[in-house]
Amino acid sequence: MAREYSMVPRAVPRVETPFRRIVTDLPVPESLPILERLHACEPIAMRGQPPIVWHRAEGFQVFDAWGNQWVDWSSGVLIANAGHGRQEIVDAIAAQASAHLLTNYCFPSEIRARLVEKLVSILPEPLKKVFLLTTGSEAVECAIKLCRTHGVKSGGRSKNVIVSFGEAFHGRTLGAQQAGGIPALKEWIVNLDAGFVQAPFPDGYRTPDTSFGRFERSLRENSIEPQNVAGVILETYQGGSAAFAPPAYMRDLRSWCNGHKALLVCDEVQAGFGRTGTLWGFEHYGIVPDLALFGKGISSSLPLAAVAGRPAVMDLQPPGSMTSTHTGNPVCCAAALASIDLILREDLAGNSRRVGGLLHQKLCALASRTPQIGRVEGKGLVAGIACVVPGTKEPDAGLAWDVVRRAIEKGVLMFSPVGHGGATIKICPPLTITEAAILDSFAAFEEGFAEAVGAQAGAA
Ligand SMILES: Cc1ncc(COP(=O)(O)O)c(C=O)c1O
Repeated sequence: MAREYSMVPRAVPRVETPFRRIVTDLPVPESLPILERLHACEPIAMRGQPPIVWHRAEGFQVFDAWGNQWVDWSSGVLIANAGHGRQEIVDAIAAQASAHLLTNYCFPSEIRARLVEKLVSILPEPLKKVFLLTTGSEAVECAIKLCRTHGVKSGGRSKNVIVSFGEAFHGRTLGAQQAGGIPALKEWIVNLDAGFVQAPFPDGYRTPDTSFGRFERSLRENSIEPQNVAGVILETYQGGSAAFAPPAYMRDLRSWCNGHKALLVCDEVQAGFGRTGTLWGFEHYGIVPDLALFGKGISSSLPLAAVAGRPAVMDLQPPGSMTSTHTGNPVCCAAALASIDLILREDLAGNSRRVGGLLHQKLCALASRTPQIGRVEGKGLVAGIACVVPGTKEPDAGLAWDVVRRAIEKGVLMFSPVGHGGATIKICPPLTITEAAILDSFAAFEEGFAEAVGAQAGAA
């Protein structure tokens, strides 16, 4: 549901805790001129986020210029895995910028060699070649190209079908959007490519049947011959809900792809780099895909993405045929190397597992006494809370939106993603967050949830 936040400042209760501080009306009256300049020069489509003007972000907190500070439950949009503004990352960026190599296209550079080597060293077999790009959508487009190249070479021109999943989100470019599973986001395309089909995502909630037979049945329903499938792509967990597939389903999918010479692609743009309590999200399934896609948390900061894959697949395209202007930009590489170093050295996947355990415990307790919460999903430091009409699975986007607004007014910055009608509230703080900060921000969130439910009951 498309909604826009009000630009009219509201008096909100003052907040002062060791982690959160709200000392102005919101939006801040002095910030309105900035918001108005953005509104004048940017498309309306940029107005999806709350009108909080970010001034500075450090660790797991975001600050504006007027004395307010939030515990960040967004990590931007799952970017700042190693924490916002980490000094080590700032120093690495500054050192590379001072070395006077700001860009070099696909010409070789030592720092790019260092980054791809690092990624290869921490990825499991057979993901031993890496292609750097700039955005997650670009990585998805590249995976589609490699799947179809592999398919056509191994099975002829009819082996070109990409199977993805309902409610999936893989980005906003043409191919990524067609691999996506949210029909409303694809309406603009008009001429949809018949070579993209979706199976229901086996989350065990919206799709109660999590047997692998459901996948095979959906191919039959779409009149797809299994031998014509070039690739199967899925988010390791679905961004719109934080739902994982059952490991048994994923193992069957892995075998099915092997048996039908289809490539299995895990889109780890959100799930990678410790987010779910393991370094890679696919570890939860006990499988390794043929291609894994990374972005967001790879650098905790500057724009960088990567496709990692089996060498035989990565080498399918000839020299010069997979390029991008900012491929492996040296300053972005420096940021990624520093971020990866922090994630490994500080065992941030472990922190995600430990602090995430506490978060999920609190969420489950809240859900057990809140009929408006249909389901809590996720692992580690990612959680999705499905807001529903009590007693049903009907999404309640209005409630999710109101909870997010109230949480922000209490000093907890968060968002509800596209998908499931906007009725999921997402929790995904930087992986450096502490138990004390989780408990402090959770108290505010819980309060906001209760108020939103109360307001809804009052309006009924
Ligand atoms: C799973 C997943 N894949 C791909 C993308 C697209 O990444 P980008 O916005 O960097 O193009 C996103 C972005 O939210 C994502 O969550």
